[in-house]
Amino acid sequence: MTGSFYPPQRTLMGPGPSDVHPRVLAAMARQTIGHLDPAFVSLMDEIKALLQYAFQTRNALTMPISAPGSAGMEAMFANLLEPGDKVIVCQNGVFGGRMKENVERCGAEAIMVQDEWGRAVDPDKVESALKAHPDAVALAFVHAETSTGASSDARILCELARAHDCLSIVDAVTSLGGSELRVDDWGIDAIYSGSQKCLSCVPGLSPISFSEAAAERIRKRSTRVQSWFLDMNLIMSYWGTGEQRSYHHIASVNSLYGLHESLVLLKEEGLEQSWARHILHHRALAAGLEALGMQIVVPKAERLVQLNAVSIPQGVDEAEVRRLLLLDWNLEIGAGLGTLAGKVWRIGLMGHAANKKNVLLCLAALQDVLGRVGVECGSGALQAAEAVYLK
Ligand SMILES: Cc1ncc(COP(=O)(O)O)c(C=O)c1O
Repeated sequence: MTGSFYPPQRTLMGPGPSDVHPRVLAAMARQTIGHLDPAFVSLMDEIKALLQYAFQTRNALTMPISAPGSAGMEAMFANLLEPGDKVIVCQNGVFGGRMKENVERCGAEAIMVQDEWGRAVDPDKVESALKAHPDAVALAFVHAETSTGASSDARILCELARAHDCLSIVDAVTSLGGSELRVDDWGIDAIYSGSQKCLSCVPGLSPISFSEAAAERIRKRSTRVQSWFLDMNLIMSYWGTGEQRSYHHIASVNSLYGLHESLVLLKEEGLEQSWARHILHHRALAAGLEALGMQIVVPKAERLVQLNAVSIPQGVDEAEVRRLLLLDWNLEIGAGLGTLAGKVWRIGLMGHAANKKNVLLCLAALQDVLGRVGVECGSGALQAAEAVYLK
């Protein structure tokens, strides 16, 4: 007979979702109240203020969308583009390709700037594209490419966009809370993230933020946003300021309790402390992986600390290793995506999951499982990681 579902106790060290903080789970178990209840409206205001902190922005148009990161991505293009617009889109992994799809589905033209998967977006190529297309209205790129573990220089790319009169559209699904990100200081115009990575919340919400210049562009559109659900002009009737909130959709009430708690946790720790913690545990993991004979495929200066793409030792059945890690160690790591499928594993250290216990667990589990499938990988991984913590 079908009964209640009790998930196994896993440790999530893949590309997301990451482990949800127990305080977030506890917050989500509280009683559901109405989406227009004054108490809930106060919570919405707190969430907006906490998101402004997480994004480091004063943008009034800052809120979570009741849908996953992909909806945040779609909200950017659906609201900012009109048919016939031209957008420079950078692709150095899977998610730049999805941006292109979005641009084209809005009836706009995507000018692609391609970089090798596993490398950061090259600002020189972006500058050339901006010069070659002075009529482009926006530059779109992924700050933290989860499919490859590469981190691009958002500050420089946004500076280039501004110098060429373009709005910047930034994917921060995997960077928010885990890597340095300063929306106002870097002049980012439109940004979206996800709840399930470095915020340690459940999947299904997408924090977004628009600068005043972006908001102005949305207000001045000559055509209607083709998506009803993602039309910011309508969403603002619910998430806007003041007492007069009206029904747009029934918000994901309990998930928003969770997001609020995850943002409170981030504020308690401090944003910069959280960024530093992600760097520390990445360094320990990287040292341990190297001791196991594994290489992170991204050059050191371009690495995304919360997502480590490591090459798979020759002759190893990569799916079998992941199966054994899950079966015997209750540990989830990710497979490669796109051109890196079958070539890398993706090991995440995101949010609450970026901690010493997980680093040591992952190294011990890999040492065990790789040894069992016949890889000679020595026994120094835990010591190598410990040496980083002792420094
Ligand atoms: C960089 C990036 N962008 C967008 C997404 C899409 O987010 P979601 O799966 O929440 O829709 C992801 C998800 O992994 C991502 O890593």
